[in-house]
Amino acid sequence: MLNHLRSAGWYEGSDRNAYIHRAWMRRGNPEDSLDGSKPQIAIANTASDLTPCNMHLNEVADSVKNGVWAAGGVPYNLPVVSLGETQVKPTAMLWRNMAAMAMEEMFRANPIDGLVLLGGCDKTIPALLMAAASVDIPAVVVPGGPMLTGHFRGEALGCGTDVWRLSEEARAGKITGAQFLASEQSMIRGKGHCNTMGTASTMAVVAEALGMTIPGFAGTPAADARLLSLSHETGRLIVDMVGIDRKPSDIMTKESFLNAIIAVAAVGGSTNSVVHLLAIAGRLGIDLTLDDFDAAGAGVPVMANLQPSGVFLMDDLYRAGGVLALLTQVKDLFHPEPITVTGRPLVDYLSDRPVYDDTVIVPRDAPLMDDAGIAVLRGNLAPRGAIIKPAAATPALLQHVGPAVVFDSIEDMRERIDDPDLDVTADSVLVLRGCGPRGYPGMPEVGNMPLPQKLLQHGVRDMVRISDARMSGTAYGTVILHVAPEAAAGGPLAFIRTGDIVTIDVENRVLSFDVTDDELQTRSQTPASEAAYAAPVRGWAKLYIDHVMQADTGADLDFLVGGSGEKVGRESH
Ligand code: FES
Repeated sequence: MLNHLRSAGWYEGSDRNAYIHRAWMRRGNPEDSLDGSKPQIAIANTASDLTPCNMHLNEVADSVKNGVWAAGGVPYNLPVVSLGETQVKPTAMLWRNMAAMAMEEMFRANPIDGLVLLGGCDKTIPALLMAAASVDIPAVVVPGGPMLTGHFRGEALGCGTDVWRLSEEARAGKITGAQFLASEQSMIRGKGHCNTMGTASTMAVVAEALGMTIPGFAGTPAADARLLSLSHETGRLIVDMVGIDRKPSDIMTKESFLNAIIAVAAVGGSTNSVVHLLAIAGRLGIDLTLDDFDAAGAGVPVMANLQPSGVFLMDDLYRAGGVLALLTQVKDLFHPEPITVTGRPLVDYLSDRPVYDDTVIVPRDAPLMDDAGIAVLRGNLAPRGAIIKPAAATPALLQHVGPAVVFDSIEDMRERIDDPDLDVTADSVLVLRGCGPRGYPGMPEVGNMPLPQKLLQHGVRDMVRISDARMSGTAYGTVILHVAPEAAAGGPLAFIRTGDIVTIDVENRVLSFDVTDDELQTRSQTPASEAAYAAPVRGWAKLYIDHVMQADTGADLDFLVGGSGEKVGRESH
């Protein structure tokens, strides 16, 4: 065991450096904790009082620690960069790559043999997985779990989704402003992340389908005692994984990414999973493309009747049998080879999983929607692709032709969207540019732009919206996102004008506008959109826009693609 352990590179020997490494780490741990025979396990902990969805993770870390000790390892709490989706400005996505880069370097720089990755809120599991993939030492994810369901005036509240719904109802005059504000007290019931099938829930499912959690962990509510039991078990497991050197690259293969895409489709998961999966795959050198999402997701029915696509919430899914019971319904679609952290294939866990409530996990032969994986659209408006989540869209709008109403920036949209003189009808296509990775910067979740108030008041509840932005996983609507290349990178989105006729044909995967190639060549960007593009001169934002890739390749930084492995210093480059 001694020579196998990576941490022996710090602790082994009788020279001055080994003395220093050991002496400073004693701190009351058992005398033999650094004798070279015990795996040193870092608990990469995104607990933070400013990441409200992850505030409870210190308690979770304690359970992991107990499991590590029980299995003969030595645990260490390693606080890492944490991102509170609702709190950090301008958008948490600007900081995902920074978090992943900082985590990666600390995972590599420290004397650790294995990792337990504690995440929850949207960007935290993606950043942890990106970092662990680039270092490639044994690692397991502990998903922090969704919160229990809150209620307002007797009705269940889906956090996120119902914020959008209630705010639109207030703008439409269906409820008062005071009623809207009163719901704020009930929106967040307790510890855990958003209770819809938003990005956090989706990324927990992704981690599980990739094989990176103990199977059956994803979707366990944050307040459920079983979350702590599974955390303890994870602590034990990581010690075993170090012993046999089971690494992320042994678990996350091309086929496990395809399994994750199938799982996201089956649960009606967030569009944000696309950029995150592409980025994680990029760190592993796996050739995953947008087309893989369309191909692997094709024919997968949505069976999770969860907001934002359906009506129930994550606690209901757990009560109904959980994520594995749902995935069992489509077991035949999964690739059988990829293993999980336990060493057994994911499909081994997809049997004998009864469904206890088929209104929550609906039968495969009566799904919420057939063939509802994320669809990739292309055409002269999005040569490198754009995506839409049909399950969250209005079916009648999935084929649509209408005139564009173009906004040059988020500020422009906010200024004009409720203008009574805005020339817009229910058939119009709202187009927002300047919100891609480079333009904003950080690709904010503004793609589900609000509908014009005058249309809301006439009962319009959905319209086709197109942008180079992302959309919150808790949002819904006929919203086309991640247009690539983005406007700020010179994509055709920069040149569309109000009045151009836009064609959306999801069945045939088309997103185009009625401009000839010759006409397009003559068009230039509007001064307003150019003026709105971000132009940072220093710091992370400068590094970010100089190196961020487009959404169709995961919006990672170009120099972070791939990994440097576990070696430190000169050996790693
Ligand atoms: Fe943290 Fe929704 S804001 S998961």
